[in-house]
Amino acid sequence: MHIGLIGYGRMGQAVERVATARGHHIVGVIRRETPIAMREAVAQQADALIDFSRADAVPDNVALALATKKPLIIGTTGWDAHRLAIERQVRAADGSVLHALNFSIAVQAFLKHAVNLATQLLQLEGWDVAIEEIHHRGKADAPSGTARALAMRLHHALDASHEPVYPVPTERRLDENQFAIGVLRVGSEFGTHRLLLDGPFDWIEITHRAKSRDGFAYGAVRAAEWLVGRTGFFTFQEVLNDILTHREEQR
Ligand SMILES: NC(=O)c1ccc[n+]([C@@H]2O[C@H](COP(=O)([O-])OP(=O)(O)OC[C@H]3O[C@@H](n4cnc5c(N)ncnc54)[C@H](OP(=O)(O)O)[C@@H]3O)[C@@H](O)[C@H]2O)c1
Repeated sequence: MHIGLIGYGRMGQAVERVATARGHHIVGVIRRETPIAMREAVAQQADALIDFSRADAVPDNVALALATKKPLIIGTTGWDAHRLAIERQVRAADGSVLHALNFSIAVQAFLKHAVNLATQLLQLEGWDVAIEEIHHRGKADAPSGTARALAMRLHHALDASHEPVYPVPTERRLDENQFAIGVLRVGSEFGTHRLLLDGPFDWIEITHRAKSRDGFAYGAVRAAEWLVGRTGFFTFQEVLNDILTHREEQR
């Protein structure tokens, strides 16, 4: 597969590494100052585009993918405010977009099991829950997309009986129906997410800690392999099982 990279920072370079190891070719890189004509040239040569850039670039990246009729993987986070409009735009143009707040396959499994466990225990008396995330100090958004996804999935699984709160109030207690999201920024940490459950007799922590960025890159490349030849607006979570059983010879 020929891949065009949008963004060539920490994640763009990890995608290049992983994609090349899977036998794909990087046909070009689009960065902040890349002129429009060059962006179009990269997209034209690509079978798929993979975007790990900045939230404010996502609408233009979607427009580029639709104009050149290329499948687009969006790994960039922080563009939630545009999500609905982009979904409509992609569907109206019969485009092909797959996005995820977190492309790590292990994180998707962590989210599923963390929500199931928390939902089960919070039905019992005396249990409380919190979420913590830790990332490198260069991260531009907080809480992380993954922490927000965990919080919202928990909120829905509990029939909206518990509200996530970030940041924790400084001059009052949390309400009974609220749970806290904690955020830390330190050094070069790739990404840690933790679910904390406090019960009357027990304390449970489930932690996912990324050992490198390659796990995110791997999921994004697998998603690109799956997306080529399909149209629609997909999330990684909803098609993950299908992606994992996708035949290798289609690469
Ligand atoms: N979904 C996931 O699994 C996942 C995992 C990790 C990170 N992320 C997200 O991925 C994004 C990138 O993270 P990162 O750590 O790689 O960031 P980074 O190291 O800061 O790299 C960002 C890259 O985006 C480029 N860029 C900025 N504006 C652009 C524009 N208008 N058009 C094209 N490229 C542009 C930058 O170009 P220059 O080099 O020219 O400055 C840079 O190469 C963030 O939103 C992060 O939260 C997602």
